[in-house]
Amino acid sequence: MSATANSNKERVFIFDTTLRDGEQSPGATMTLEEKIQVADALDEMGVDIIEAGFPIASQGDFEAVVAVAKHVKKARVAGLARAITADIDRAGEAVRHAQQGRIHTFVSTSPIHLAHQMKKTEDEVIEIIALTVAQARNLIDDVEWSAMDATRTPLEFLKRCVETAIKAGATTINLPDTVGYAVPDEHFRMFKTIIESVPGADKAIFSVHCHNDLGMAVANSLAGVAGGARQIECTINGLGERAGNAALEEVVMALRTRGDAMPFYTDIETTHLARASRVVAAAANFPVQYNKAIVGKNAFAHESGIHQDGMLKNAETYEIMTPASVGIKETTLVMGKHSGRAAFKDKLKELGYELGDNAFQEAFQRFKDLADRKKHVYDADIVALVDDEVGSV
Ligand code: KIV
Ligand code: ZN
Repeated sequence: MSATANSNKERVFIFDTTLRDGEQSPGATMTLEEKIQVADALDEMGVDIIEAGFPIASQGDFEAVVAVAKHVKKARVAGLARAITADIDRAGEAVRHAQQGRIHTFVSTSPIHLAHQMKKTEDEVIEIIALTVAQARNLIDDVEWSAMDATRTPLEFLKRCVETAIKAGATTINLPDTVGYAVPDEHFRMFKTIIESVPGADKAIFSVHCHNDLGMAVANSLAGVAGGARQIECTINGLGERAGNAALEEVVMALRTRGDAMPFYTDIETTHLARASRVVAAAANFPVQYNKAIVGKNAFAHESGIHQDGMLKNAETYEIMTPASVGIKETTLVMGKHSGRAAFKDKLKELGYELGDNAFQEAFQRFKDLADRKKHVYDADIVALVDDEVGSV
C-alpha cells in the first residue's frame, strides 16, 4: 500500500509465530530446511517480527532459531523463553545471531494456571516477572513479555503484572487469549483498560495474540487493535495449537480491505500471501481447507448462476478484494449444476466455441443434465458434450 493511502492511518506490526506456535500444531513439525523456506517467505513478504522457535525446547529448535536469525535479512527474530533463567539464557544465545533479535518471555497469570500448573501465589508471580524480564533486558534491548492466559486473569492482577514487566524493561507487552476464550467486545475493553490505566503503558507496544477455539481469533485480534494494541501475533493459514492462531492473511487483508472502518495499516506485501500459504502448507504438511478465507482454493471461485452472471458483468458484485491483491492469478467460475447460461456461454467462448441459439440451448441442457449426475464438470467434459452436439446436428 502506498504511503499516501496510509497517511491518516496507524501502523500495526505483524509478528508471525508460524515457526513457533504454528509448529506446536499437532503433526506440523518442520525440518530446519523447511523452517528456512518459511522464514524466507515471511521476510520477503514484509513481516516485522518472526518468532523462530523455542530455543530451550530441543537442540534442533535452538539450531533452527540460530539458522533463521543468521538467514533473515529484514525482520526481527524472536526466540521464546519461559520465565526460567536457563530458558532466557538459551533464547538470548540463539537470537544474538540476528541483526535485530528479541527475547520473548512469558509466565501464566490466571488463577487456574497459578493454582493447578504453577502452584504459585500472585506475589510470587510478580517477583518472577520482575526478575526474569530484568534478566532478559540484561541480554538484549528488545524484550517482549507475555501474560499467558491473560483473558482469564482478573484485571487488577493483570494490571500489576503489566506494570511490573514494563518497570523491569519489557518493550512489548503481549496479552494472549491462550485458550481462545475471549469475545471481541470484552477483548477490546481489556486492552483499552490496561493501556489507559497502567502507569508507564505508553512506554511499551501492546500486542494481541489470539487462539481460535471459538472461531474468533481474527475478530478478537482486530478488537485488540481497536483497544490500543499495535502488534498482532498470527500464523500463516492460522496454523497453531488446537484450533490454531489468528490467520495472518486474514488480519492483514481485513485491515487492508476495511481501512475505511479500521484506520490501521501493515507493511505486508499482500501479493505474497498465496505463495506463503503454499510454502507453509507444504513445509508443515498441513493442507489448507478449500473454503479458507483469502488463500483457500474456493476463496475466489464462484459456482452459482447468479454470482457468475454478476462476476461476468463486474467483479465487484461478488468480490471484495481482487485475487491479484493476494497473489492469486484469477477468479474461477466453476462449472456445476448451479451455473447459469451466462457462465456457460463464457466457458464455451474460452474453449473456442460459438454456437447458434438452438445448438447452445441443446448444449446447455446436456451440460445441466451432466452436472446433476457429476460432482465436477471439467473443461474436457464440456468439450466432449459440445463436440457430440455439434457432430449430431
Ligand atoms: O498462547 C499463548 O499464550 C502463547 C504464549 C507462549 C505467548 O503462545
Ligand atoms: Zn499461543
